[in-house]
Amino acid sequence: MDKLIITGGVPLKGEIRVSGAKNAALPILAATLLSDGVVTVGNIPHLHDITTTMELLGRMGVELVVDERMNIEVDSSSIKDFYAPYELVKTMRASILVLGPLVSRFGEALVSLPGGCAIGSRPVNLHIQGLSKMGADIKVEKGFIRAKAKKLKGTRLIMDLVTVTGTENLMMAATLAKGTTTIENAAREPEVVDLANCLTAMGAHIDGAGTDTILIEGVDSLNGTKYDVLPDRIETGTYLAAAAITGGHVRLKDTRPEMLKAVVEKLKEAGADITLGDTWIEINMHGDRPQAVNVRTSPYPAFPTDMQAQFTAVNVVADGTGVISETVFENRFMHVHELQRMGADIRLQGNTAVTRGVQRLTAAPVMATDLRASASLVLAGLVAAGDTAVDRIYHIDRGYESIEEKLAKLGARIRRVPG
Ligand code: UD1
Repeated sequence: MDKLIITGGVPLKGEIRVSGAKNAALPILAATLLSDGVVTVGNIPHLHDITTTMELLGRMGVELVVDERMNIEVDSSSIKDFYAPYELVKTMRASILVLGPLVSRFGEALVSLPGGCAIGSRPVNLHIQGLSKMGADIKVEKGFIRAKAKKLKGTRLIMDLVTVTGTENLMMAATLAKGTTTIENAAREPEVVDLANCLTAMGAHIDGAGTDTILIEGVDSLNGTKYDVLPDRIETGTYLAAAAITGGHVRLKDTRPEMLKAVVEKLKEAGADITLGDTWIEINMHGDRPQAVNVRTSPYPAFPTDMQAQFTAVNVVADGTGVISETVFENRFMHVHELQRMGADIRLQGNTAVTRGVQRLTAAPVMATDLRASASLVLAGLVAAGDTAVDRIYHIDRGYESIEEKLAKLGARIRRVPG
């Protein structure tokens, strides 16, 4: 297994490009299953989760053509199986996103249950409940969700809690349902809006994406289109945090600053000087140590859970005491134990981590446990004295395109060694 070796102590400086958003690309690739025509998706990041999705679609018989710029052309007219096997779903929970499109367009789906994962039990009961309410006949048996429907029917869905992929699955299913569906207490994440924009370009009738009530009027069929996915706000935020932790000066281009308001506010509180353009963000720490901040994760537009681990890393070397509360997932502090091995002073109390900043971390061999936790270990490595070896970086490759190249471009001493 590959490792990243990071020699800490260099303040990051320079400019890098932000990649397309993983969490928009995944539902959009699933949405291509709804189209009668060819859908070409651009600005796709080169990531392991994207390869997994392509394999998932390919195994169903869908034809995919990828060019050298990672534009993916998808033609689902050749589909023969409506099946998502355990071996793929277990490596990527977002595989569940094929459930809504398959049952809505083809009337059947057999999708493995994702099961547990490192950051909690993460059930999909709300996806299933919503589709049942739209008239699908769903059985959960032998670890699989088996769904059948002649034609889904529009209905009023009130979500028990805000779920991103749940909202996306049901929105996709509703585009080809008979009549009108409303999704109340819907997720408002920019990736939900991006998916809605892509579906609209395919001919769907959707209103209210980005608010907590989405209205979808079913149509008979959807057409092909060409769509570029939006920039990755979590990747953007991660490199901003990397600049903050190292006292650096970094400019991120090809991003959308308006998606990062909560993160930018916290960075300002931490002492960062931030300048925003239309498509870029610049952060300058002027060589200073960050101030500790208090963070509470919540659905968008509040502070994202996907940035929690990175801010925990910033806090552990910051000046003062910080309180980080995780309210979205039940067990998302796996990085804490690894950070403690590097000398971090963190007390865990239920879903809260209290950090007391230390002047310097010390390098240690550490292990990535999930995607964002691994990013926080890389950030810690950037400021630790000595060589930090981050093991199990396949987690990072799921969600960060060429992380070592991008960090090296900013001056970091980082290399990948094959394991
Ligand atoms: C998505 C993101 C992930 C992010 C998360 C929260 C993708 C591919 N992944 O994950 O990066 O961390 O949103 O912003 O977009 N829940 C239920 N029942 C359900 C569905 C969810 O109880 O049927 C719970 C979950 O356990 C969790 C909370 O709802 O506690 C939010 O999860 P959800 O928004 O669904 O996360 P994902 O869509 O899986």
